[in-house]
Amino acid sequence: AAPVTYQSESATISQGVVESNHTGFTGSGFVNFDNVTGSYVEYTVNAAAAGRHSLVFRYANGTTANRPLDITVNGTPTVSGLGFPGTGAWTNWQSVTTQVNLVAGTNRIRTTATTANGGPNADSLTVDVAGTEPPPGPG
Ligand code: GCU
Repeated sequence: AAPVTYQSESATISQGVVESNHTGFTGSGFVNFDNVTGSYVEYTVNAAAAGRHSLVFRYANGTTANRPLDITVNGTPTVSGLGFPGTGAWTNWQSVTTQVNLVAGTNRIRTTATTANGGPNADSLTVDVAGTEPPPGPG
């Protein structure tokens, strides 16, 4: 199956706002997590088949401090403190990849800020079957 990209501005957002003031995002904007622990973006993604999938998060972090996110899949803590280090500027977008197991059909992938700085600016999540190459991102 081809990789599918889910825009953060279309996800479920708790304690965050959709913005478009830093160029280089895809879609119509990005999510600026509130600068608090517990702010989150939850993507509803579809998996054609159960099993291992890669998650590619496109983000920007214009600070020098890492902004880790915890990842839950369908409510189950799955990845703890995935690192989102500084990208040099809020207009510099990079990718962080991890792998998780998904069920066939609908999955809720929640990314939650673990520090008082909140999360990085979140552009999108691309989901693919593990072992296949994600598409090259713009920039
Ligand atoms: C700045 C920046 C925002 C960013 C915020 C932050 O205000 O313009 O896009 O989200 O810093 O530190 O989270």
